[in-house]
Amino acid sequence: MKRALTPGTFDPITSGHLDVITRAAQLVDEVVVAVAASPKKNPLFTLEERAQLVRQATSHLPNVRVEPFDELLVDFAARMDATVVIKGLRAITDFEYEFQMTALNYQLNQELETLFIMSPPQYMYLSSSIVREIASLRGDVNGFVPDCVKNALEAKFAR
Ligand code: PNS
Repeated sequence: MKRALTPGTFDPITSGHLDVITRAAQLVDEVVVAVAASPKKNPLFTLEERAQLVRQATSHLPNVRVEPFDELLVDFAARMDATVVIKGLRAITDFEYEFQMTALNYQLNQELETLFIMSPPQYMYLSSSIVREIASLRGDVNGFVPDCVKNALEAKFAR
């Protein structure tokens, strides 16, 4: 059984993330969406809220499950028995950061492969931080995020 991790902070999950997870699920037997605690990023949503939103957004995908984690990605991958990490790559600005993380993860565990899926054009410039900003200014996030996230953002920023 080929198991992949799709890691991220998912603060919150966007339509771009969902696109990557959906396509990853077509490539392997099982995808574990690894929701990182990322305390240094000071997330808007708690770890449990983020994991729950990813669960709701992916509930139609039978071979996807969601797990929060707060350790090195390579250690979590070993614990989950996952042999591949699949990530989305958007604009060229992502490259340097992803290149560094992939190189470091490779140093830490050469058995763990990292694959990238290119974002389709409509999601190239979409990010959780842009979505948070639009929502915080009462803008319309329709299409940028799954409906459950739209509702959660509205509740978060309700006066
Ligand atoms: O969505 P993000 O915030 O860009 O995802 C980054 C993430 C969570 C994949 C990355 O920070 C990560 O792997 N964190 C787990 C801790 C870890 O392994 N850090 C060293 C990476 S070389």
